[in-house]
Amino acid sequence: MTEKYRDFLGWTIYQIYPRSFQDSNGDGIGDLRGVISRLDYLKDLGINAVWLCPCYKSPNEDNGYDIADYRDIMDEFGTMADMKALISELHRRDMKLILDLVPNHTSTQHRWFRESRKSRDNPYSDYYYWFDCPPNDWKSCFGGSAWQFDPARQQYYLHSYAVGQADLNWENPTVVREMQEVVDFWVDLGADGFRIDVIDQISKDFPGDRNCFGPRLHEYIRDLFDRDSTRKLFTVGECWAGDIAEVRRHCAPERGELSTLFQFDHLNVGREDKFTHRPGPMAELWDILRNWEEKMQENDLLYSLFTDNHDNCWLLERVGDTGPLRYASATAIAAMVYLMRGVCFLYQGQEIGMVNPHYDSIDDFNDVESKNQYTELLEEYSREEALEKINFGSRDNNRRPMCWDGSAQGGFTTGKPWIPLHSAHATLNLQADQASKQSVWRFYRDLLHLRKTHPALTTGSFRAISQPGDSYCAYERREGAERLLLVCNFEKAGTIDLPGASGAVLLSNYGHAEKTDTHYEPYEMALFAL
Ligand code: GLC
Ligand code: CA
Repeated sequence: MTEKYRDFLGWTIYQIYPRSFQDSNGDGIGDLRGVISRLDYLKDLGINAVWLCPCYKSPNEDNGYDIADYRDIMDEFGTMADMKALISELHRRDMKLILDLVPNHTSTQHRWFRESRKSRDNPYSDYYYWFDCPPNDWKSCFGGSAWQFDPARQQYYLHSYAVGQADLNWENPTVVREMQEVVDFWVDLGADGFRIDVIDQISKDFPGDRNCFGPRLHEYIRDLFDRDSTRKLFTVGECWAGDIAEVRRHCAPERGELSTLFQFDHLNVGREDKFTHRPGPMAELWDILRNWEEKMQENDLLYSLFTDNHDNCWLLERVGDTGPLRYASATAIAAMVYLMRGVCFLYQGQEIGMVNPHYDSIDDFNDVESKNQYTELLEEYSREEALEKINFGSRDNNRRPMCWDGSAQGGFTTGKPWIPLHSAHATLNLQADQASKQSVWRFYRDLLHLRKTHPALTTGSFRAISQPGDSYCAYERREGAERLLLVCNFEKAGTIDLPGASGAVLLSNYGHAEKTDTHYEPYEMALFAL
């Protein structure tokens, strides 16, 4: 792989949802000081970079993705001094900071918007999309029309997300410059990279029918990141690129755009739509991942390996077992995904095998998407059915406070948490997991440390060995003389007989130091040196 991205193959990035990670002052809201207090935990787990979801000034209509000031910290999360302390504490531990950059929209409370709405003729008037009448029928991703009438300016503005998130007009060169300055501001403070929110939407196919992948998208991305060749920023786009040609256009090193992007195909396994469950077999997950892994490798691109984030319910809930085989399935999925070739992302709580909580009332939810969706669902479904769907698909499933221990507030806060804790926090928490013989956390830690000590697992090549239709997956990673073979059985016990799959194992989720038989239990995996 080209030198430019090669280092990133060794990275494991831990995504933190700051509001729910660790509270340090008892107000029930996670904060930056809380994050600092957990850095040793992360380092020990094998993490070398932290991606912080937005922590800028925000009225929190969409929990920080509605930014009111790009250069200041949300009051609840702390101060700029806390942010500087976090950066230096990370760097002191040889860890990186990846910030969330949200260039597509601002809060309607941002100064730019407050100015913009005042009149049709002011220095900020063209910072957003304003029209006398909605020029198309675009819908907001959170339900309803994407056009909102503003009584002050007597015009409609575009909001692809919540009403309080107005889309910036990138056709305006001043907007591009503003966002460049935001990037520079954080790089100068010590940020090592960015996760870029809905980057595909900053150029719109306007007034056509696509609110994304507009004609100037690549130009804008280069405007942001291709200005200073001495910078070694890591950039990962939230970009719904559907095929490899599109990924190449964003990530081929010579293009000066993104280091990598999140490819989301595999997240659809195990659901009909975001709020409707359909049990998904591991084979389906494997097929999609293998396919992308091979294409990324052929094209010399950096693949982003992830299973969870703050926008989707736990993968374990859709693929895998949330009952007696929770440990086995969580670790099998972890092995299958994170022994592949790519840069690794873990979402907070994933390392203890989290599953969805359950609540009896919509009042126990906070997320704007879930609340809007619930109202829409009630038009078609009974209260119980609607709530069932919210319980399955709500983004709050992954936004509940991190369960550190079994105490009353889960070790997250000494006060009242901003959102109810996970309904099973008394038993499903880090402390309990660490004390268990079957510790998902220990498995992740062992796996991540193996990645650090075996070049085959980072820079090594990937070669699939199992065939489509097999009831297991097997692949080889190879770097120089080192060859490692992963064998990972799916849901049902069975026989797997592969050359080399015998003898000492480097990693096992069934407690084997060596494996000589060909029988595999459900979700059993083993990593062999060939
Ligand atoms: C992205 C974020 C999501 C947010 C949306 C609007 O999809 O991941 O959490 O609600 O963009 O910013
Ligand atoms: Ca706090």
